[in-house]
Amino acid sequence: MIIEPRMRGFICLTSHPKGCEKNVLNQIDYVKSKGKIAGAKKVLVIGASTGFGLASRITSAFGSDAATIGVFFEKAPAEGKTASPGYYNSLAFEAAAKDAGLYAKSINGDAFSNEVKAQTIDLIKADLGQVDLVIYSLASPVRQHPVTGVLHRSVLKPIGDTFSDKTVDFHTGNVSEVTITPCNDEDIANTVAVMGGEDWQMWMDALLSAGVLAEGAMTVAYSYIGPKVTEPVYRKGTIGMAKDHLESTAFKITEDLAKIGGKAFVSVNKALVTQASSAIPVIPLYISLLYKIMKAKGTHEGCIEQIQRLFSARLYTNGSIPVDEKGRIRIDDWEMDEAVQKEVAELWKGATTENLPSIGDLNGYKSDFLNLFGFGFDGVDYAAEANEMVEIPGLI
Ligand code: NAI
Ligand code: NA
Repeated sequence: MIIEPRMRGFICLTSHPKGCEKNVLNQIDYVKSKGKIAGAKKVLVIGASTGFGLASRITSAFGSDAATIGVFFEKAPAEGKTASPGYYNSLAFEAAAKDAGLYAKSINGDAFSNEVKAQTIDLIKADLGQVDLVIYSLASPVRQHPVTGVLHRSVLKPIGDTFSDKTVDFHTGNVSEVTITPCNDEDIANTVAVMGGEDWQMWMDALLSAGVLAEGAMTVAYSYIGPKVTEPVYRKGTIGMAKDHLESTAFKITEDLAKIGGKAFVSVNKALVTQASSAIPVIPLYISLLYKIMKAKGTHEGCIEQIQRLFSARLYTNGSIPVDEKGRIRIDDWEMDEAVQKEVAELWKGATTENLPSIGDLNGYKSDFLNLFGFGFDGVDYAAEANEMVEIPGLI
């Protein structure tokens, strides 16, 4: 069928298989253009189909010739209905990996469940024996707890006070005031249950006790800090509590991994347009101002540039891994640059519907958003019939 973007709120209901393939191939080309990284050879990526997780899988495979196992939760295609973009991304990734002679297999299911953890362990045992890197890159609004069965829903709310500030509807470019009422205690506990470190710890416990972590294995999860303007809804809001929990979990996991000489890290990444971040109020306005400034300075990066730099300039150098005073890897350094942040803060104050197209990179935001779903790529014929029913061979 001919596939066009169909927007509803913060999501796009359709995705384009050829466009998703193009997105993946572009990322592969980028990684190859940067040369080899002396990285891990057997890599498990949890949350491997989009955003930072997909970039981690691509960087491992095409930067270090790694065998990869990807875990994700994506919708397969159905007659007349496209798959979710992460499904088509993973199909394209696996095809390219196989063409390059690289092992790649994927598991599509709920990573929070005991069952998917057990399936992953079985697959590692059968095909790879052990893994030496585990990337934890889940972003989800819900988690069913594997022990209690409780369905936790995360919320994006401030803590304590009502928050009011500017936001933009990136589809229309309309800048308006948004007011978000504070959360209750249950909201905090639920958000920590979904996006905190408990599931990461459960994964690492399961992998360690199954004996599928190689000597010196490393695990990395992703976090975010960001600017003052987003603090009430992000870092000091409910999601920030979850990130605090994730970050402290790294130390616990490192203790557990001591017996195999392993280590856990959190990497603080840059704000980027992904399915997860588009749904957070205020963030799209911040991102559109940030993009404009960073593009002008020549320091703008997307997921693949971020992760390629994380692997080559932080994780796999000859020296030790540099961390901040809280033990975190910082690859958000160019975003948090003082001059950049000062400029964002100034532009923020004066941002309106009228001037945003010139002071911010609204078009960049929109095109990145379309790209997430495989739309807007050069070299893809969107007027042509596309086969939405393509399937990932051997998907578990
Ligand atoms: P994303 O939405 O692009 O990717 C999420 C991944 O998790 C996908 O592969 C999806 O299939 C998978 N997933 C979700 N629920 C699942 C489940 N129940 N079982 C199995 N897989 C599941 O998100 P993004 O933005 O790449 O986020 C990844 C991490 O990076 C998150 O921890 C996020 O907080 C962090 N981060 C994001 C930033 C941003 O600006 N987007 C900035 C810094 C950190
Ligand atoms: Na991801």
